Amino acid sequence: MQSALALFALAAVAPLSASALPATATAAASSALPTATSVVSGLNALARAAGKLYFGTATDNTTPEFTDPTYLSILENYNQFGQLTPANAMKWMYIEPEAGVFNFTLGNQIADLTEEYGMVLRGHNGVWYEELPGWVTSTDWNATGLAYAVQRHVSGIVGHYAGRVYAWDVVNEPLNDNGTMREDLFYNALNTTYINIALEAARAADPNAKLYINDYNIEYVGTKSTAMQNLIKQLQSEGVPIDGVGMESHFIVGEVPTTLVENFQAYEALGLEFAITELDIRMELPATDELYEQQKQDYYTVVDACLQVSVCRGVTVWDWTDKYSWVPSTFAGYGDACPWDANYTRKPAYDGIAIAFEGQSI
Ligand code: XIL
Repeated sequence: MQSALALFALAAVAPLSASALPATATAAASSALPTATSVVSGLNALARAAGKLYFGTATDNTTPEFTDPTYLSILENYNQFGQLTPANAMKWMYIEPEAGVFNFTLGNQIADLTEEYGMVLRGHNGVWYEELPGWVTSTDWNATGLAYAVQRHVSGIVGHYAGRVYAWDVVNEPLNDNGTMREDLFYNALNTTYINIALEAARAADPNAKLYINDYNIEYVGTKSTAMQNLIKQLQSEGVPIDGVGMESHFIVGEVPTTLVENFQAYEALGLEFAITELDIRMELPATDELYEQQKQDYYTVVDACLQVSVCRGVTVWDWTDKYSWVPSTFAGYGDACPWDANYTRKPAYDGIAIAFEGQSI
């Protein structure tokens, strides 16, 4: 397989030739100016030209997608993706399946890929109430025992990848939608101190990684976002290291919040950076042309909101093709949430992202 970086470099300096580019590029090759959606200007290239660190994607090497050559050939195209998040590989059940016993095989595969192609790596995640191994969920923890387990887990994973990760989702989804703390096993044994323990362990293990808390329904002005800002203020007042907030952004077509920018600015005012970490915009099936057009507008709106706030570092989609999206199995009756369809054809949503990064209006 030709290296994506080599292809990108070639395309950037040489006149386009049909032999060097996929068949879809021939139209661009015959016209003088590339269009918003030309092969040369992939989404990561456009994001970087717009001053962002990356446009990236989640990818799941715990599933068959990693044995699909067409999937991999697009995933490995730096022109399209400058950042990867392992959708599952670094989660607790995979990476520390037994107490104190780490298995980095799957995580390393993604980390190695990012290095091979010059991509940014986001670590995902440190402490989350889901995808925990049995030894964590079945133990009747006291505070001392769980504090030790959290500290060992976060130190172990962040330390292993030290120097290779741009940002870690150290704490994932700590809040309920009504703004109260999620009463998971961590909270029940340790109250909010598990967050302090995790963040401090992460900072000690990799002083250069940006430390994030990641959650959903905090992307817009509302009770849960206010609660997240209060949690951040509490951590800051205690001197706990916190650098950023991950805005998951699992949205519904036609229902993208209107207060994204205003909300993002509130995080900027706290001295934080942030990122769009898990973007997808699902529609109720069956899809229609109208829904695809609305989805294009919606992707534009989210990317444009990131562009309007300088401390928004980048945008990550929660996998890029409908073929492997988590949406249909999670939200009954919904799907088609990604910028590429299940046959790897770009949807209008792709154009919405490209147009936003180009600074054009839609
Ligand atoms: C999802 C994965 O995509 C699925 O494969 C897995 O079965 C469940 O988790 N918020 C998060 C992600 O922070 O880790 C979740 O990923 C999606 C919701």
